[in-house]
Amino acid sequence: MSTVTESQFERSTAVPVPGVATRRKFLCHCLKVTPEEVQQCITVSNAETVHEVTRGCGAGKGCTACHCRIKDLLAGACDDCGQSKRRCLCAAQPA
Ligand code: FES
Repeated sequence: MSTVTESQFERSTAVPVPGVATRRKFLCHCLKVTPEEVQQCITVSNAETVHEVTRGCGAGKGCTACHCRIKDLLAGACDDCGQSKRRCLCAAQPA
């Protein structure tokens, strides 16, 4: 896994991440990392675990309260409702 550098996180070109509340500016408050930066880290470095995301962009290196939100992004978004597949109840709903 390669380390994502700061220059790879162009805030101006960051795209909104489906399923992540927009009222939160930072996904990781300790390290001031946005959801878009974490998503870019996952995409660019093919991170598959919280540890790999932490090594790639620093998110999750502090209090660890954001690990659940990092796991939400790692799981990806539901095609139907846009929520993280970890929290999505679409599959539980009868068709
Ligand atoms: S909020 Fe991410 S480490 Fe504390």
